[in-house]
Amino acid sequence: MSVSSDGTTRRTYLDHAATTALDGRVLEAMMPYLTTEWHNPSSIYIESQGTRRSIDSAREKISSIIGSHPDEILFTSGGSESDNLALRGVLEARRGLGKHVITSAGEHHAVLDPLEQLERSGVADVTRLPLQRDGTVSASDVKNNLREDTVLISIMHANNEVGAITNISEITSLAKGYNDRIIVHTDAVQSMAHLPITIDNLAADLITFTAHKMYGPRGAGALYIKSGTPLAGQIIGGGQENSLRAGTENTAAIVGFATALEISSQQRDRDLANERALQKMLISELPRRIPYLGITGPRDLDKRLPGHVSCVVGFVEGESILLALDLAGIAASSGSACTTGSIEPSHVLTAMGVPQDLARGSLRLSFGRNSSVDDAQELLLKLPKVIERLRALSPNIMEPSPDWTEWF
Ligand SMILES: Cc1ncc(COP(=O)(O)O)c(C=O)c1O
Repeated sequence: MSVSSDGTTRRTYLDHAATTALDGRVLEAMMPYLTTEWHNPSSIYIESQGTRRSIDSAREKISSIIGSHPDEILFTSGGSESDNLALRGVLEARRGLGKHVITSAGEHHAVLDPLEQLERSGVADVTRLPLQRDGTVSASDVKNNLREDTVLISIMHANNEVGAITNISEITSLAKGYNDRIIVHTDAVQSMAHLPITIDNLAADLITFTAHKMYGPRGAGALYIKSGTPLAGQIIGGGQENSLRAGTENTAAIVGFATALEISSQQRDRDLANERALQKMLISELPRRIPYLGITGPRDLDKRLPGHVSCVVGFVEGESILLALDLAGIAASSGSACTTGSIEPSHVLTAMGVPQDLARGSLRLSFGRNSSVDDAQELLLKLPKVIERLRALSPNIMEPSPDWTEWF
């Protein structure tokens, strides 16, 4: 926390991978649909026709940015719903033709948990690949695990905890070369907020998106469904979204999502340069200033989300660091927001091979569009003191175990 010239205290937000503030321009675009243009887009009167046109034009805007056909975009409530729909929808549509699914052990829980449930109920037979040391998934691992009965592959594009970017188009081409009926799904929730995602550069059949990581509203997202992909709807009871997702459309959220994506693609170069510079600053300074701190995720920045920094800190618990940083005015995360509060070491770090005791000291710092050098400096000033204090309180500081050293 720092005190500004007007005497107010300033909080430093370093958790943009968890969610982002609604952009004022997005709010402005959404306002009419929350106030005057609130009509049901499925009704026949003139007001509803206007609302319907706004949804159609949001769909066209998103399609033209990612290079899809408008009919291939299905609006959902966000990343979790799109992931669930992709997995459950394909397995239901492919029932009787095979139930083998390949995924990685480092996926988001919105993929891991439905697959675990589908496996328990006998619908899926799941192979979970380990992550490579840098957090990416190896295409040859996928290739070596393909089977006659493989129907679905679900591998995320960029990992939310360590920012590692996996080459999805390589996985798709290996899978289709083996059997062109295999469906490839990727969760691009984290990458769409930073990178120029197109249908051509990902080459997947199903792609999960969400709006709230790119200054859009929470509760809005989409699933890209390549034309011809077999998929059974999971929310039924209405004809909306091509009968694949029943429920009156959230026009404001849909318009907000399209506006957020448009703004983010227009100012991507500027945002990216800022986020990369701040990321580089922490990646080089943190290990220099804090003993027994290792950066996790890819060293090669081309394989890493811009603005994303993750690390492990020996001899401290991630939760204790977060609480101390919070008191010092800095909001950060130990991994994904969804695992905060859990004392289990991160499943992503353990899938990468980080020793369990070291993985408990994980920290994720994620910059965004409005982050500044002051934010990075604030962290560089406060974090070493926080770690030193926590280590001094700990009764059992020992020598690092030999299996830690490769992570520093
Ligand atoms: C990789 C990934 N997938 C899915 C989700 C869930 O998205 P939503 O919050 O829109 O449901 C998140 C959110 O943290 C995420 O990081």
